[in-house]
Formats: sequence, C-alpha cells, structure tokens
Amino acid sequence: MRRVCYVSSVTTGTGARREGATHKGEKRRRLLPGLAVGDGFTRHPFDVANGVRTSGLVAGRHLKSGHRHDRHATAYYGVAPSVFQALVRRWRRSGPAAPLEEFTFVDMGAGMGRAVLLAAEMPFRDVVGVELNATLARIARRNLAVWRAAGRARAAARIVCGDAAEFKLRGGPCLAFLFNPFGAPVMRRLLAQIAESFAGKPGQLDLLYVNNEQESVLEGRAGFVRLYLGQVSRSRADAIADHAILANQPEGEYASANYEDCSIWRWVG
Ligand SMILES: C[S@@+](CC[C@H](N)C(=O)[O-])C[C@H]1O[C@@H](n2cnc3c(N)ncnc32)[C@H](O)[C@@H]1O
Repeated sequence: MRRVCYVSSVTTGTGARREGATHKGEKRRRLLPGLAVGDGFTRHPFDVANGVRTSGLVAGRHLKSGHRHDRHATAYYGVAPSVFQALVRRWRRSGPAAPLEEFTFVDMGAGMGRAVLLAAEMPFRDVVGVELNATLARIARRNLAVWRAAGRARAAARIVCGDAAEFKLRGGPCLAFLFNPFGAPVMRRLLAQIAESFAGKPGQLDLLYVNNEQESVLEGRAGFVRLYLGQVSRSRADAIADHAILANQPEGEYASANYEDCSIWRWVG
C-alpha cells in the first residue's frame, strides 16, 4: 500500500514507531491499535453529532482476522460523509438501471460502518456492510443499532463479518461501494466474483470507488465501463476534521487532502 495515497492522496510523514508505548488505554490498544486517545485518536464530528463510533485510523498490519486476505488490507478509516454523499449523487445522475429503491447497497470493507449508516439513510432496497475484522464488524453492528433507535435507518441494513471477495452478491440491481479496502489480489478476486454473479445481466451492478488505488485492476478487467473518474471534494468541515485527526497520528503514516480520487464503474458484461 502506498501510504502516501491511502487516506486521501497526499504525503506521509516518517514519524518513529511507538509500538512499545504504554498508557492507560493499553488493554484496548493491544486489541486494536489506533482507537485509543494515546494512539492519536480524535473523534470525527460525525460521531459527536450522531452518538456513534466510526473514528480512528487502524493500520492494515493491525487488522488481523486469520484470513489469508489480511495481508492485503489497507487500513481502517471512515469515509468523509461529504465525499460519500457527493459520489452517490453523481452516481444517481449517471442513469442507473433501476430506481435507487430497487438497489442493494453493499460496502465491501465496511469497517465501523460509517458508509453503511449514510447509505441506510437513503431508501435503498437494502444495505449490507461486509467486514473482515470481527472487532470492527461488532462496532459497526452497535452503530447500526444506534441508527435504528434514532429512526435514521430508512433501509434494512446488516453487517456481515467475512471476506468481501467471497461475499455472494444477489442477482438484483446492486451498488457496490469501496473505500480503498484492499490491494490488487483481493480486488481481482472481487471482480471475478462480480463477473460470475452478474453474467448476462448488464447494468445490474454499479461500483463506487473512493481513493481508487487499484483503478488499473478495473481498467484491465473486461465487462466494466467507467462512467466517472475525478476528484471529489471534502466539505470544509470534513477537511478540517480529517486534517486534525491525521495530524494527531503518533506514527504519522497518513495525510489528508481536501479531495478524494474517485471513480464510478458499470458492469456491462
Ligand atoms: C478504509 S476502510 C473503509 C471503511 C468504510 N467502508 C467506510 O467507508 O467508512 C477499509 C476496510 O476494509 C476492510 N477490509 C480489508 N480487506 C477486507 C476484505 N478482504 N474483506 C472485507 N473487508 C476488508 C478493513 O478491515 C477496513 O475496515
């Protein structure tokens, strides 16, 4: 993973590792480094406003599940709500095969579920988040419960703990969402799975890709056409929040820009 580009296409620092550091949150730190105040944790305003927990930056090397695809995981970081919403708006203008109400939204690499929460506010047929790491999946489920209790979920939504590349997509119109979850080997497997599930169903699968580091894998795969490639701006509030959060990382691996490189693809095979 080119960390320079991971979160949002910018340069990384070379801060020294603090693997051995001790502090009050040591127990939690051992479970998932990056989610304790001592790890540089800062709450995103999305969490503060909504009473959920989607903040934090967990480097890929800490996302162990025992699955062979662990080594291709990039990191956990929640998508900027403004980028997510702008990309979905752009997709809706792209002439999808069916109304949004008939689409299943699937977040491939759902993390703590920020994109799932945002999608669940829209009238999708249903919303699924697939997450490989059990701890993140558990947090995402709790967040969904908060969302439902607050009356924010318009769509039925659930979190599945497992490998996105093995997740069986059902036949109806589907909108897959990826916020740079994994490297090329897993991306290739996912696209092969899509090709198999949607053979003979052109237009039934669209894909939104934020921080599209593996764009060339899609470019090299027959059966997909690109509808959009460009930079989607963060809102001012998201830019300020993400800059502040990433400025606090003890290891200084990632940095943030005011936009995300994004693409939209349609399956036509
Ligand atoms: C950058 S985070 C995106 C989180 C969420 N989609 C969002 O936008 O807020 C990427 C997530 O993908 C997960 N991931 C990585 N490889 C995966 C795989 N093979 N299957 C499912 N999830 C995976 C990571 O654990 C991480 O939580």
